[in-house]
Amino acid sequence: MEETRSEIAQREGFSSSIGVIAATLGSAVGLGNIWKFPYVTGQNGGAAFILIYLIAVLLGSLPVMISELMIGRKTNANAVGAFKKLTKREPWFLVGVSGVLSAFLIMAFYTTVAGWVFSYIFKAATGTIHSTNPEQTSAVFQGLVSGVGEPLFWQILVLGITGVIIMAGVAKGIERVTKILMPILFVLLVIVDIRSLTLPGAAEGLKFLFLPDFSKISFGVVLAALGLAFFKLSVGMGTMTTYGSYMGKEEDLPRTALKVMLADTLVSIMAGVAIFPAVFAFGFEPKSGPSLLFITIPTVFASMPFGRFFMVLFFILVAVAATGAMLSLLEVPVAYLVEEHKLTRRVATLLTIVAIALVGSTATLSTSLLSQHLFFGKNLFDLYDFVTSNILLPLGGIFFALFVGWRWGYKGMLVEFSNDGRLRNEGVAKIFFILVKFVAPIAITLVLLAGLGVF
Ligand code: PFF
Repeated sequence: MEETRSEIAQREGFSSSIGVIAATLGSAVGLGNIWKFPYVTGQNGGAAFILIYLIAVLLGSLPVMISELMIGRKTNANAVGAFKKLTKREPWFLVGVSGVLSAFLIMAFYTTVAGWVFSYIFKAATGTIHSTNPEQTSAVFQGLVSGVGEPLFWQILVLGITGVIIMAGVAKGIERVTKILMPILFVLLVIVDIRSLTLPGAAEGLKFLFLPDFSKISFGVVLAALGLAFFKLSVGMGTMTTYGSYMGKEEDLPRTALKVMLADTLVSIMAGVAIFPAVFAFGFEPKSGPSLLFITIPTVFASMPFGRFFMVLFFILVAVAATGAMLSLLEVPVAYLVEEHKLTRRVATLLTIVAIALVGSTATLSTSLLSQHLFFGKNLFDLYDFVTSNILLPLGGIFFALFVGWRWGYKGMLVEFSNDGRLRNEGVAKIFFILVKFVAPIAITLVLLAGLGVF
C-alpha cells in the first residue's frame, strides 16, 4: 500500500503549467516530426498530404487528445485503471489494454530508429558521415541498417538509457532538461532551415511542401495522414491518459492540448523546410522514405560552415527529442504494471524493457537477417509501424471519443473540460462535444475502413 501511495505521489509530479507543457510536448515532439513527418509527406505527394494531415489533427487527434487528458486527470490512473474506475463490469478497459499493447509495439520500432540516431551522433563526431556526396552518406546508412551487431547494440543502449531514467523515477529531471533542450532544438532547426532555404534549387522543395496537388490523394493517403496525426500527438493509446493523470485540477486541458498541437505542428513544418529544399537541391528522391533524415541531413550539414559541429549537435537533439517520446511510451506499460499488477517500478520497467528488446530486435533485423520475412508485403519494421499508426491508434481514438461522447456524456465531460465551470469555455465545449460524439468517430471509422480497402 505504501509503495502504491508513493508511486501515485510520484506520478502526480508535474509541478507547474510550464512543466505540463514541457512534458506533454516532450511526448509529442520526437522522431515523428523530424523523421516520420518529412518522409511520409514525401511518399504521399507533399502539400496536399499536409493539408489532409492538418484536417485529421483538428477533427481527429486533437479532440482525442483532450478526451484522453480528461479521462486521465479525472481518474488519476493508468490507461487500463482509468476505464476501470469510470465503469464497472463494462469492457471499456480493453481500450486501455489495446493502448498498452500499442505502446509496446511502437517502442519496438521506435527504438530501432532512435538507435540509428544515437549512432549518428558518433558517426557525425568522427566525421564518418561528413560528406557532401549523397552516395557516400547513403552507403554509410546502408551499412548501418544492413548490419546486425551494430544496430542491435545501439537499440539496446537506447532502451537501457530510457529504462534507467524511468526506473530511477527521474522523469522530473528529464522534464527539466527537456525544457532547456527543446528551445535549442528549435534554434537549430531555424539554422538548418536557413541553410536549406539558401541552397540553389531550394524553391522546388518549397513548392513540393506548400503547393498542393490533389491528384495525389487516395484513401490510402488519407489513412496515412490520419495515422500520422495520431502518432504525432501520441494519442489513441493511453499516453495522454497517463500524462493527464499527472496534471492538477487547475490545468486548462483543452488549451494545453491546443498549445502542444500548434508547437508540434510548427516543429514538423520546420523539419520539412529543413529537409525538402535540400532533397531537391541535392537531387534526392522525396519518396526515398525512412532514410531521408539519415542521408539528406548529413549532406546539408557537410555543406555549411562548422558543419561537423552542428551535425553532432543536431543528432544529439534529435536523440533528446526521441528520448522524451520514449519515456512517455515506456510509462504506459510501466504505470499499468505498477498499478494493476502491483509490481515495483523497477521490476515493471525491467520486464517491459526486456520484452521490448526481444520484439524490437526483430524490427531492427528486418533490414538484414530477417529481410526475407515479409507479412502482407511488409517487413517487420514496417508492419509494426503500419499496424500501430494506421490501425491501433485510430481504433483507440474512436473508442476514446465514443467513451466521452456517449458513455460519459455532456455533463460529466463538461466538469473536466471547464474545470467545473471556472474556465468559462462552454462554447468551445459544445463544439468539442459534437466532434467527439459524431464527427471524429464517424470520420475515423470511414477513413479506417476505406484506407484498409474494406470498401
Ligand atoms: N509523438 C511521438 C513522435 O511523434 O515522435 C511518438 C509517440 C510517442 C507516439 C508516444 C505515441 C506515443 F504514445
